[in-house]
Amino acid sequence: MFGKDYFERIFKKGTPWGLSTLSYERVKYERQIEMMRRFAPSAQSILEIGCAEGDYTTMMAKAYPDAIINALDISHIAVEKAKNSCQTYGNILVMEGDIIELLKGQQHFSPESLDIVIQSECLYYLFPKLVTSLYLYEYFRNMTGIMKKGGIFLTANSMRGAIRCVMPLYHTILRRFLKPVYNGKFREWNEYRNEFLTYELRVFRRTG
Ligand SMILES: C[S@@+](CC[C@H](N)C(=O)[O-])C[C@H]1O[C@@H](n2cnc3c(N)ncnc32)[C@H](O)[C@@H]1O
Repeated sequence: MFGKDYFERIFKKGTPWGLSTLSYERVKYERQIEMMRRFAPSAQSILEIGCAEGDYTTMMAKAYPDAIINALDISHIAVEKAKNSCQTYGNILVMEGDIIELLKGQQHFSPESLDIVIQSECLYYLFPKLVTSLYLYEYFRNMTGIMKKGGIFLTANSMRGAIRCVMPLYHTILRRFLKPVYNGKFREWNEYRNEFLTYELRVFRRTG
């Protein structure tokens, strides 16, 4: 449903969702940076899942000049664009891949290697595949396994339509593996959708 072909079609049409231009996104990205700085100020290794064209990736590169930032996206077109926009930053590695497949068996990433995993406006796209492949629980178990003890998982998601039903289930599973340390709710005007949108920004920490 929300597989590679779906996102290639979206990125082929142009720059989707206004990620690089909307003040809605800028404000949200700045909040994410603030939370990363608050909960993981000296992070050295970061994984961004669903980096799209790299808009947030470059903000992280500036905020964490000494960290290695691994930016991942399923779309080849998005990855090519992200490589282009991130090329002046020596601390960004852009990769193409499906996080669900890469996390299976946990062979792609080193265990306990990441200070921050960020997956914003991306988790809900994974839901149909995670549910139909009975992999929902394992996904978060494997993700926890690649985080350092003390590392954080950050996610921000707009609460619209079916996403409102999906996110509480994710949060429940996340709490099985990680400790919630921040839960913020924000309502902002979204110029792309021409409506006020509410989004949640949550931070979880690996404690054990
Ligand atoms: C709405 S964009 C979010 C971009 C950015 N994270 C943000 O918060 O603005 C969702 C991104 O997730 C990517 N994506 C969706 N499913 C994915 C998967 N299974 N593995 C890696 N990336 C995925 C899409 O290609 C798209 O670029």
